Amino acid sequence: MDAPRSAAIENLMDERRTFVPDPAFVARANATADLYAEAERDYVAFWERLARERISWSKPFETTLEWDLPFAKWFVGGELNVAYNCLDRHVEAGRGDKVAYHWVGEPGETRSLTYADLLREVGKAANALRELGVEKGDRVAIYMPMIPELPIAMLACARIGAPHTVVFGGFSAEALSGRINDCGAKVLITADGGYRRGKEVGLKHHADEAMASTPTIEHAIVVNRLGHGVHMVPFRDHWWHDLVGRQSADCPPVAVDSEHMLYLLYTSGTTAKPKGILHTTAGYLLGTSFTHEMIFDLKPDDVYWCAADIGWVTGHSYIVYGPLANGATGVMYEGAPDTPSWDRWWQIVEDYKVSILYMAPTAIRAFMKQGPQYPAAHDLSSLRVLGSVGEPINPEAWLWYHEHVGRGAAPIVDTWWQTETGMILISPLPGVTTTKPGSATFPFPGIKADVVDADGVSVPLGGGGYLVLKQPWPAMLRGIYGDQERYRETYWSRFPGMYFAGDGAKRDEEGYYWLLGRVDDVMNVAGHRISTTEVESALVDHRSVAEAAVVGVKDEVSGQAIYAFVILKASGEPSDALAVQLREHVAYVIGPIARPKYLMFVPDLPKTRSGKIMRRLLRDIAEGRTLGDTTTLADATVVDTIRENSGSAEE
Ligand code: WT7
Repeated sequence: MDAPRSAAIENLMDERRTFVPDPAFVARANATADLYAEAERDYVAFWERLARERISWSKPFETTLEWDLPFAKWFVGGELNVAYNCLDRHVEAGRGDKVAYHWVGEPGETRSLTYADLLREVGKAANALRELGVEKGDRVAIYMPMIPELPIAMLACARIGAPHTVVFGGFSAEALSGRINDCGAKVLITADGGYRRGKEVGLKHHADEAMASTPTIEHAIVVNRLGHGVHMVPFRDHWWHDLVGRQSADCPPVAVDSEHMLYLLYTSGTTAKPKGILHTTAGYLLGTSFTHEMIFDLKPDDVYWCAADIGWVTGHSYIVYGPLANGATGVMYEGAPDTPSWDRWWQIVEDYKVSILYMAPTAIRAFMKQGPQYPAAHDLSSLRVLGSVGEPINPEAWLWYHEHVGRGAAPIVDTWWQTETGMILISPLPGVTTTKPGSATFPFPGIKADVVDADGVSVPLGGGGYLVLKQPWPAMLRGIYGDQERYRETYWSRFPGMYFAGDGAKRDEEGYYWLLGRVDDVMNVAGHRISTTEVESALVDHRSVAEAAVVGVKDEVSGQAIYAFVILKASGEPSDALAVQLREHVAYVIGPIARPKYLMFVPDLPKTRSGKIMRRLLRDIAEGRTLGDTTTLADATVVDTIRENSGSAEE
């Protein structure tokens, strides 16, 4: 049975520290509080104004929104080209010499591409796709390392109206072929390989294995990154440098409808078949570029670095489309944060004078674990805005980021969104919002969010429940490719008329949103619905703890009991006494009901390749089950190490 109305999820943590915007920042901030008021008056008119001001249209739109729940059409009747908006218009305005990307390869080589360079390369790549018979509407799969040819390939597709589907380079041949077959892609763009943790990582053999079972693929284009040759299938496979190299740079952008499919990005549920999340053109471009400019306070001379992989939506929206539409200068890094040593990122920040840095809490906690000496050894004074995305950020990780990376000065934007939402939906606006460590603060202007109970009734401030969205937004997914019934069922059926994100959230008395993790992860201890996020944050609050993951395990008395997996900082020593201390610490911070019954020290945690903790695996380990599907796991050895130790968790 569901818990009583006010306690869909309990509100346990009480974080009271606040950070008021610095007046000097406020004076120059892109965003102002007026945006909230304007959007509140009429959200459709708000997005209409922005779409007319910010997008270069080949044909202006007639109707701003057609909303036939759950199907939205934005900027109906308009025509545009995304590559034109990201490249040509900047070059035409005389900004062709501005750097679009500073690229850093893991082994140390660098390349800087200006907007004029990028326009030329995109034109050539687009003509290459044309030569292979790719036409408007044909799908193109992309499976590449983090090299400049990856955004070039995406923009080349956009230039000719061919939707792309980028498959993260760390995925298997099977994952690749499944996605190619789901969307029926005609061409695959890949590379011989890339570098990761000082090693060469081959891609072409995975691509070959995948292409053995993808009947729709007619051609592959292969970037020569590693340079020592791979097997090429005659007539099917083409080297990028040959095929693209011989093309003309002149490729007129194809104007497409506002609702033309820009791309598909597959989200891997842990069990079910991956969903092809469908994004379209105009609304997506507007949503990503406007949020990027406001939330990161982007100025013309900023150097912006989003340290995600382009294989995830974060990279699509905030390395490629949003920043390029805004004419930003970005940094792209190919490799791992610890190669050759744990100060690689700080070296890059120093070298390129990065002013805006956007990364995931999992990376922040990994840096925390290594200690502040790494960022301290570098000049990070260029940093002026910091962002976080991907998971709830624990207050302690937030404070560490603030102090050791932001030197106590740079505002932090904790940005909540999803592959499905396309753009950031809940986030502070720097220079406007007073922040609280661990809170994503408020819905972005024009976004109507709510926290509801099991019956879909809004939970009063101070309570927790299910996060929902109550009106459409321009960058929202338009469906699941090939399965609109699944789209309705997955996102719109739990609470009629509302988009349910799958996340738990609470609002404090001042209306700040606090994300509580996926509702599937919520634990039920003696009838109390307790968020894993809150218990994890209480653990990370202890000075010895770098990272924690908690799960609910079956318990005869309380239904579920809390089992905590804890990674200590480099300075910490595991001991029974410390385990007792940590359990008491949780009881002290959020109350005895949340005291973990079991606690185990681990060297690492099983995570997905995008850095999310796989609690399902931890539950299996804790309950002594054989493990289910582990294909989305980034490092399989972690599970064995944890399992070997799991006898020793003591109550
Ligand atoms: C899920 C979406 C959004 C790009 C990367 C992930 C979690 C994301 C936050 C945040 C708390 C967050 C949610 C969400 N999430 N950002 N700032 N605070 N949780 O995209 O793989 O589609 O994952 O990530 O659980 O539903 P994704």
